[in-house]
Amino acid sequence: MASTGLAGRRVLLGVTGGIAAYKAAELVRRLGDAGAQVRVAMTENAARFVTPLTFQALSGNPVRLSLWDEHAEAAMGHIELARWAEDILIAPASADFLARLAHGLADDLLTTLCLASAAPVHVAPAMNQQMWANAATQANLALLRSRGVGVFGPAAGSQACGEVGSGRLLEPNELVEALANTHRPQTLAGRRVLISAGPTYEDIDPVRFLGNRSSGRMGFAIAAAAVEAGADVTLVAGPVHLPTPAGAQRIDVRSAREMHAAVMRAAESADVYVAAAAVGDFRPQEIAAHKIKKRGDGGMTLELTQNPDILADLAALPRRPLLVGFAAETEHVEAHARAKLERKGLDLVAANQVGGGLGFEADDNCLTLIDHDGTTHLPTASKRELARQLVDIVAQRLERRETGAARR
Ligand code: PMT
Repeated sequence: MASTGLAGRRVLLGVTGGIAAYKAAELVRRLGDAGAQVRVAMTENAARFVTPLTFQALSGNPVRLSLWDEHAEAAMGHIELARWAEDILIAPASADFLARLAHGLADDLLTTLCLASAAPVHVAPAMNQQMWANAATQANLALLRSRGVGVFGPAAGSQACGEVGSGRLLEPNELVEALANTHRPQTLAGRRVLISAGPTYEDIDPVRFLGNRSSGRMGFAIAAAAVEAGADVTLVAGPVHLPTPAGAQRIDVRSAREMHAAVMRAAESADVYVAAAAVGDFRPQEIAAHKIKKRGDGGMTLELTQNPDILADLAALPRRPLLVGFAAETEHVEAHARAKLERKGLDLVAANQVGGGLGFEADDNCLTLIDHDGTTHLPTASKRELARQLVDIVAQRLERRETGAARR
């Protein structure tokens, strides 16, 4: 596994009571594979789901359950364990544990360790979808986030209780990746990064619109990667069904004109704008006030008018952020993308082939980065991974731009 950020790191894994506790056993293995030293502390309820012996065998270290265990305290006392930890990861984190952590309780070993440690605390919630959606849980999460606690997940899908929704524990490899990413170099620290993502919808009448297949995944992945790299991130999102990446400030819009207005406003203070959104080039000349009815058997003609070009308008500003455009092409990808770089006055363009299961809606993508110096291929990978590579390149370009400006 490539999570070198965890090599040699001392990770205290906290396991709380929930059916997802069985996944924590695999997590211990995966953390070990990534080079971390792992010690496990469980709540009494977690031990009802998985035995401490399982974690002891997998981690190679004694497992702690109670504040009041004299033998354990004689070996490595809880304060010593709190000092030992360089990272604390609670997975799964139950609704009850999150509530106790949010309110600073120290009524068992795990909450006490969290309170007594200077290590960063990360929680991976796992619970029934209704408990997750409950306002009390969400308020506790908001409080924890505001205090710098990292929140990994949860994922959505079918649950052990038979319900479907958000509240599934992330998979062990995703948790290891998320923890490793907290140690990524802060290449964008102090930078303001503006990102657009998703489609735009151009209303035809109260029930119909012109849209496109963009899911927002590429842009949201870039927002998450930019947060990881330490940036202050604003994400302007078209109509998509994706959770906001933790730490990003999200502005929801619907039409191209709304996106144009939101981006132009936020761009005033941005260092870089990454345009991953698939913006509708045209909109209906008029939006019908009522649902358009079929008339006889004939067809109908929709009069379209052009939308403003967000990137081109930003490029025309006297003080403009670094402009990174995307080019979604079905053929002659590089040639068309290079033409966009010139026509829109961009600093960098990320070209992707779309159609046939690529680009739009997919989890994976591949990008060709084109600027005035040349071309860089980023081979097929998950959008999350590509986003990290793109963010690193953007950070270099920002630095190069400033060094160039300083020399002039
Ligand atoms: O959202 P996903 O499902 O993850 O899919 C990702 C993606 C394929 C949508 C993404 O990778 C991508 O390629 N986004 C740009 C899609 C697009 O609209 O390309 P374009 O070639 O039509 O536009 C070129 C650039 O101009 C884009 O950066 C676009 O945001 C920008 N633009 C376009 C029109 C307009 N009126 N204003 C703009 O700023």
